[in-house]
Amino acid sequence: MTTLTSYEHYQQRINDFLAAKLENLTTNDPKLLEAMRYGLLIGGKRMRPYLAYITGEAISANLNDIDAISGALECIHAYSLLHDDLPAMDDDDLRRGKPTCHRAFDEATAILAGDALQTLAFDILANHTFSIKLSASKTPIQVKLIQQLVRASGYQGMCGGQALDLAATNKVIPLSELEILHSLKTGALLAAAVLMPAECCEQVTVEHKQILSDYAQLIGLAYQVQDDIIDLTSTEEELGKPVGSDLAANKSTYPSLLGLQGAQDKAENLLQQALQALARLPYNTQSLANFATFIVKRSH
Ligand code: IPE
Ligand code: IPE
Ligand code: MG
Ligand code: MG
Ligand code: MG
Repeated sequence: MTTLTSYEHYQQRINDFLAAKLENLTTNDPKLLEAMRYGLLIGGKRMRPYLAYITGEAISANLNDIDAISGALECIHAYSLLHDDLPAMDDDDLRRGKPTCHRAFDEATAILAGDALQTLAFDILANHTFSIKLSASKTPIQVKLIQQLVRASGYQGMCGGQALDLAATNKVIPLSELEILHSLKTGALLAAAVLMPAECCEQVTVEHKQILSDYAQLIGLAYQVQDDIIDLTSTEEELGKPVGSDLAANKSTYPSLLGLQGAQDKAENLLQQALQALARLPYNTQSLANFATFIVKRSH
């Protein structure tokens, strides 16, 4: 298994940042806050924050700026999982080795905790003091980042992908549609983890942003292809969530359309393309290359 440089360090950093954000909220409803804590702070690989931090390192961003980006991304991700597990969506009982939020609390609380985590993401970005002011732009950096996160998480991104995913349940869709679905539901947020840090560095050229974006799209898609593979090949214990749930729900996935080997070949192909993209950048991209490799080699 590829080891990720400074992974535990950045996990700790984002966990502390997020814990402090929840700590600072005035408690109006202790149960709702507890459910938010449950969804946000208990477990999770913190892949999106990690990707944002190593991108920040590669392009020499100020890591205090990346804290806010990582925090916002993880709030959106946590909210998406709370809602994804609901009976109306995937109806799953286990997440991160524990009962899903709506099982541990109740459905209404899980919905509200997801809603509140979503708005917390924008709160974090809107109220963060960033180290840079964009000299070439009248638009404040907070607004630029919010625009990116809206695009990645809303109708044009994750939410849109989740809707396509539900619409594709119980039917076979063409590979081209599956690719769009995957790119939106998982790729968009991972891409934002690369593109939002780039927004904070004026020295990153438009051409380099495009290459970073290509890399991010490729690994974002690879992430979901591998998620579908390990839904079939991993164990519930390893994964901390139920296995075989895509099959049980009759979802179109890469393994269901291409077979397991075909899906593994696809992930490998995406990895090679991502590595080729990185090779065109003038930065030290070793950690980004390791991350891409980690994604397609991970078994849980
Ligand atoms: C699971 O995401 C859902 C997908 C988008 C594939 P992660 O695999 O990042 O889940 P956690 O945050 O580590 O639990
Ligand atoms: C969820 O995809 C992606 C989200 C945007 C939440 P999945 O439904 O495949 O995620 P898991 O397998 O439940 O983690
Ligand atoms: Mg789902
Ligand atoms: Mg699911
Ligand atoms: Mg899955």
